[in-house]
Amino acid sequence: MTLVSPRPSPLTSRLQPSPPVTHGWSVIARDLTEVEVLLHAEAASEVPLAQAVCGAVHAAGGKRLRPALVLLACRALESSAPDARVTGAAVEMIHAATLLHDDVVDRSSSRRGRVTAFARWGSAPAVLGGDLLFSRAFGLLARHGQGEELRVLSTCMLTMCRGEIMQNVHRGDLEMTEGAYYDVIRAKTADFISACCRVGAMRADASSVTIERLAEYGMNLGLAFQVTDDLLDLCGDETEIGKPLGGDLREGKMTLPVILALRAARPAERERVKQIAGKPVISRDEFEEVRTILYAYDAPARACLVAEDLACAAIRALDPLPDTPARDALVALACGLSSRSK
Ligand code: IPE
Ligand code: IPE
Ligand code: MG
Ligand code: MG
Repeated sequence: MTLVSPRPSPLTSRLQPSPPVTHGWSVIARDLTEVEVLLHAEAASEVPLAQAVCGAVHAAGGKRLRPALVLLACRALESSAPDARVTGAAVEMIHAATLLHDDVVDRSSSRRGRVTAFARWGSAPAVLGGDLLFSRAFGLLARHGQGEELRVLSTCMLTMCRGEIMQNVHRGDLEMTEGAYYDVIRAKTADFISACCRVGAMRADASSVTIERLAEYGMNLGLAFQVTDDLLDLCGDETEIGKPLGGDLREGKMTLPVILALRAARPAERERVKQIAGKPVISRDEFEEVRTILYAYDAPARACLVAEDLACAAIRALDPLPDTPARDALVALACGLSSRSK
């Protein structure tokens, strides 16, 4: 189904200019190429299906946001530590593993504009391919990494699992509060994005105060990122985001626009959302009905303001950093993320 919103997009940022998220990544272009080489090498397996699953998830593309954050955080501290590339590859492998698993949990059929491993090969190969990538990523870090980096990233994976479990507990829960929603997205998404910035700063041998600033940038950026991802699932353009709209609603996930609208909605509207959320197949008309309720309470625009405020907080955390092209790229990323279309 193609459900491009006929209404004005809420995803038009007050943060001007609103550059593409990759603005200024030329400073890390060579490092990112090296990351791709490592990803390819680490997806190799003597088991053809394992190699196909792991290779396909990388080949499908994606923004490479997490390795870019590791590399930009390191560069923003005027360091070009070569091992930051290894860390960059490891975080992308961890991310790819979580996507393989997430698509099984969310029963998603498309991702990065392609059919998911879950839909193509089934849940066992998708889960096991994710396990393989996790193991390879931590192996890579153990060979090249510092103990503290391993500790940060493994703790972060525990937090992500907790976030995904909390989210599952709240499926179909129309009483879910805004606070509980932030707890979930902090745990499942923002903590990892923050950790990418933290380990990048650690690779640059930064002081603990500076490491905390970068981690704070990443935490706010990560929250803004997930709020926007959730908005795109309701109001985005599915050809741009590379996955069908309405997946969260079908899975009964309570996201910020839904929570904000339900708080003000009339009993009949609440009842309608309750009937539709979590249905295995949601018709185009039903999806439009829910969106009409969201727009009636200005919920998409309000969620967009939340993302922008978080992006501003991310940028403020960078205040003490020296003026470098990498710092500029981190600022541009925060400006671009809250108004992104994919
Ligand atoms: C998708 O992350 C998962 C979320 C945390 C929302 P990305 O939007 O960074 O996915 P890719 O890597 O670009 O495909
Ligand atoms: C991100 O949440 C999940 C991860 C932590 C991997 P979503 O379930 O919203 O991500 P998408 O929309 O499937 O990319
Ligand atoms: Mg998902
Ligand atoms: Mg999503």
